[in-house]
Amino acid sequence: MQPREIRRVGVVGAGQMGAGIAQVCAQHGYDVVMSDVGRALAETGKAGIAARLGRLVAKGKLSAEAASAVLARISVGDLKSHHDRDLVVEAATEKPELKLGLLSQLGGVVSRDAIVASNTSSISITKLAAVVPDPARVVGLHFMNPVPLMQLVEVVVGLASDPEVVRRVTEFAQSLEKTTIQSRDRPGFIVNRILIPFLNEACFALDEGVADAQAIDTGARLGLNHPLGPLALADLIGLDTVLAIAEVMHREFGDDKYRPAPLLRNLVAAGWLGRKTQKGFYVYDREGRAVPNRLD
Ligand SMILES: NC(=O)c1ccc[n+]([C@@H]2O[C@H](COP(=O)([O-])OP(=O)(O)OC[C@H]3O[C@@H](n4cnc5c(N)ncnc54)[C@H](O)[C@@H]3O)[C@@H](O)[C@H]2O)c1
Repeated sequence: MQPREIRRVGVVGAGQMGAGIAQVCAQHGYDVVMSDVGRALAETGKAGIAARLGRLVAKGKLSAEAASAVLARISVGDLKSHHDRDLVVEAATEKPELKLGLLSQLGGVVSRDAIVASNTSSISITKLAAVVPDPARVVGLHFMNPVPLMQLVEVVVGLASDPEVVRRVTEFAQSLEKTTIQSRDRPGFIVNRILIPFLNEACFALDEGVADAQAIDTGARLGLNHPLGPLALADLIGLDTVLAIAEVMHREFGDDKYRPAPLLRNLVAAGWLGRKTQKGFYVYDREGRAVPNRLD
């Protein structure tokens, strides 16, 4: 059976990525349903989108009418609300067991000709696909953070992914004015395969006292021409997510070069997850200004 034309999109998980994906889809005319573990969290995700659109209106980059039209295209629901979606993008927390459970539940909700995509940063698409009734309809659709600003989407092809499904989601990502690259299903795909060892090495360098956080980040910004240093970027991604990706890469490759830095583990254990908790390698004030966190 051919996959359906994509008009109605579901997003599961209304955190920073899910809300960003929902926003960009609605801005490009798609009808969106967004869910989370409870309605309250999904509403919080929608309120975040409203606040971001409000800032665009205040800066004169979007009309108030266009902002209301975008918001009107996003409704909040529960997992069952995805039953009539043409494409459902899973963007829940980066935990393998959680995603496997979620995909298995989702498999029982979506229609037979719908596509299921995961925004996972590292987990095997082939493994996630194996728990839904038709693995051919499952692909990776890896958006970058922040979704409204970042140009790239990685399309990850699982062992069982149907080429027609891959073609449809690639066209879908391009309809959101994103540039796509295609990756085989290996831990970390393309972007995180390169990025996570870099971020992790910056944690080791900080922990060993090679330099302080600002010097490490300035080194990458001015020495490598990166817009953000690795520690500031790790804080933006979320240290729990960085650790979860590093753990998947370490386990799946079975290679100690991917072992997560103990300092990264400690920050996550402390609940200091970066910008989303206002504290990580840096401490953030209400305006998002940062000063280095004392970690010794
Ligand atoms: N943060 C990044 O820079 C980034 C970039 C690309 C991809 N990703 C991937 O996107 C996904 C989400 O990351 P995030 O940064 O948005 O995390 P986040 O912590 O901001 O949000 C995760 C959301 O998932 C929800 N959730 C947890 N269990 C759920 C369930 N069973 N059903 C529905 N929702 C559930 C949480 O309540 C939360 O709102 C992860 O797979 C992550 O690897 C993250």
